[in-house]
Amino acid sequence: MSPRPEIVVLGGINIDLIAAAERMPVPGETVTGDEFYTTPGGKGANQAVAAARMGARVRMVGRVGDDAFGPGLVDDLRAEGIDVSAVGAEPGEPSGVAVILLDGERQNYIIQVRGANLAAGRAEEEAAVGALGSADAVMLQLELPPAVTLAAALAARRARVPVIWDPSPPGPGMERAVEAASVITPNQSEALAITGIDVTGPDSARAAADALLSMGAGAAVIKMAEMGAFYASDAGSGHVEAFEAEVVDSVAAGDAFGGALAVSLAEGRTLGESVERGCAAGALAVTRPGAQAAMPRRAEVERLVASR
Ligand code: RIB
Repeated sequence: MSPRPEIVVLGGINIDLIAAAERMPVPGETVTGDEFYTTPGGKGANQAVAAARMGARVRMVGRVGDDAFGPGLVDDLRAEGIDVSAVGAEPGEPSGVAVILLDGERQNYIIQVRGANLAAGRAEEEAAVGALGSADAVMLQLELPPAVTLAAALAARRARVPVIWDPSPPGPGMERAVEAASVITPNQSEALAITGIDVTGPDSARAAADALLSMGAGAAVIKMAEMGAFYASDAGSGHVEAFEAEVVDSVAAGDAFGGALAVSLAEGRTLGESVERGCAAGALAVTRPGAQAAMPRRAEVERLVASR
């Protein structure tokens, strides 16, 4: 088991604007909300924080804007002990922004405007590839231009560095992501977008996971929120039940899952054990507001796993 794995995260960095209301408005309607907060987010940056809080050494590769948000987004990552030497600022571009609505059940609806994330290119690809020599895993999503992410994934596979790929948000590049992933980790809507299979429980999750394996993924993990997660690989498959949680804010639960999963795999645990730690991290994240702020620490995850 690797004592303190090194994880490279190539991905999006956003500022999140979160508003909560008992119900979502219909077209043309204004509803009064009960809470608003801003929080550092972005799937890549959230996963970087999640992995760092699980004990990994993390190198973040990405781009912020040259607006008022950019320096703070980088400082927040640095404060987590994350190496931000490969996070650049794009002149003349705003930072990525996610406008997030939380409904009465605290489920989230996200509109993301990628801003400087879309300027990621050759520099990010080279930084990610250059870090592979000492990396135990690479974490990817779909918030940066797909060509950059795919190039890093292919280089990682050639270097035999595991690629943990969260195909989110679904869109161009998702099929190639499946082919290139050592472990692909869609949620239900992403699994539907990629495989056409509507995941409503463990049986349909198994069908979706099998479809992802036949598309080329080394392993597939389908995240199903309060239904837990289903995993499959050549070594076997299984369903991990969700941990009980009082949902305050479901934003970035999948990122917490991903960070814990990646660190656990890099430490040498089985896929099933790592999915269980992912489920625990996701359950803890939903009990707190915010994105990066909600990522749990290793001791909490271990306590929750041990409580089962
Ligand atoms: O996964 C949650 C993240 O998605 C948010 O932090 C938001 O920035 C969007 O990228």
